[in-house]
Amino acid sequence: MSAHTPSNTPKDRVLIFDTTLRDGEQCPGATMTLEEKLEVAELLDAMGVDIIEAGFPIASNGDFEAVSKIASVVKNATVAGLSRAAHKDIDRAAEAVRQARRPRIHTFISTSPVHMKYKLQLEPEAVLEQVISSVTRARGHVDDVEWSAEDGTRTEFEFLCRCVEAAIKAGATTINIPDTVGYTTPEEYRDLFIRVRENVPNSDKAIFSVHCHNDLGMAVANSLAGVMGGARQIECTINGIGERAGNAALEEIVMAIRTRNDVLPFETGIVTEMLTRASKVVGNATSFPVQYNKAIVGRNAFAHESGIHQDGMLKHTQTYEIMTPESVGVSKTSLVMGKHSGRAAFRNKLQEMGYTLSDNQFQDAFERFKALADRKKHVYDEDIEALVDENLASAHDRIRLVSLTVIAGTRGPQRAMIKLDIGGDIRAEEADGNGPVDAVLNAIKALAPHEAMLELYQVHAVTEGTDAQAEVSVRLHSNGRSVTGRGADPDTLVASAKAYLSALNKVMARGEGLHAQHAAE
Ligand code: KIV
Ligand code: ZN
Repeated sequence: MSAHTPSNTPKDRVLIFDTTLRDGEQCPGATMTLEEKLEVAELLDAMGVDIIEAGFPIASNGDFEAVSKIASVVKNATVAGLSRAAHKDIDRAAEAVRQARRPRIHTFISTSPVHMKYKLQLEPEAVLEQVISSVTRARGHVDDVEWSAEDGTRTEFEFLCRCVEAAIKAGATTINIPDTVGYTTPEEYRDLFIRVRENVPNSDKAIFSVHCHNDLGMAVANSLAGVMGGARQIECTINGIGERAGNAALEEIVMAIRTRNDVLPFETGIVTEMLTRASKVVGNATSFPVQYNKAIVGRNAFAHESGIHQDGMLKHTQTYEIMTPESVGVSKTSLVMGKHSGRAAFRNKLQEMGYTLSDNQFQDAFERFKALADRKKHVYDEDIEALVDENLASAHDRIRLVSLTVIAGTRGPQRAMIKLDIGGDIRAEEADGNGPVDAVLNAIKALAPHEAMLELYQVHAVTEGTDAQAEVSVRLHSNGRSVTGRGADPDTLVASAKAYLSALNKVMARGEGLHAQHAAE
């Protein structure tokens, strides 16, 4: 049977557990604001994700608040809160997911020799006791309890089976065996699930789950292999973001199952046409760039550059395309409207692109579209996307760019004259720099002094041509954590100022204000 021939055999349903907001957000630089987390959660829910892991409630008050808020807005998906084995962790997670229609507590403890000896400093028997007491405690709060054996793939098999059996006996309904350090291989991981399910007498009472990290680039392959071994829940993240090399990418897993259903005879509930949008929303919220050649959602994933490939595509798309761009929500790059286009056409375009904006947001976006169309000959879908996403991301910003003029060229020093709106107060400043970008950032620092350090500055063009918008990403490091911001504009220096301010606003949203003398003014 070919990859494209539908089969009539009923397919096993595989649950998609998205941990973008927990394992994904945990990685350096991927911090999201509460509003961004809510936007991501609502999109995941609409896309058909079965379980949304919304955060780690004991980690901070911000995490707790985000999980509670997400629990109260999500309509269909189960909302999970992560907790270690301690009872206070579990109680906090229970409190955070309390308002969810379908609440889940996800509790974990390490089971591998190296983690038990050095990290937990506990004997295996003490760990086993905690497995039982943590799951029992969680079941006292909710019916849906997931238990994870952290570093499961490096755990001794007999001990893993004892822990799994005990967790199920104590009431766990899902058993996750994570490849925490991205160490396993597909065959080994598949066999592990087969063997555990065969050896644990009550294994039929729980759903088994895979959770793979990508340290050796095998997270997706390992996850699918685990499903071949009997797992029926896959833990993954949008764009594969997560600790170190990341987690298994949701979009790759879902499209592998859809495209190669002949050898992966399973089904998911994901609306695949929303994958590209989800990738962009998460990319913007985290400001984590998606690599150009990233499978499924990279900007080159459906681009055919070489003459031979283009010729083949013109003759028949299946010559070089195993799935259609439309199936993942990529619309053909199209010329949008010019400066004479009206509101109705713009509204229509936004709807087609999957945006639902409030009246105020629409008005802002329309004004910015008009301003862009005045300056740029052709306005493409990508331009509109950059403009609207930036607008949504900056809705709660305290510091905004009002205007910027830069003197640059071969004869330095370069000079920037900037005006900022800081909480409703318009202030101006001038500064020199070693290059125009340095001058812009110095002028911002003079108006809004802060300790955050610049870790990364990156520019890329949104579309082609010399009048293309520049999209700038900036990563700032402050108080042990990194945040990223993005800005887009046909002027690279304006985009740089917007990106820097976007990151600075995120630092401030975490409660780290400007230096005292300015904050008090
Ligand atoms: O990678 C891991 O082991 C985890 C657990 C907390 C599930 O993220
Ligand atoms: Zn993980």
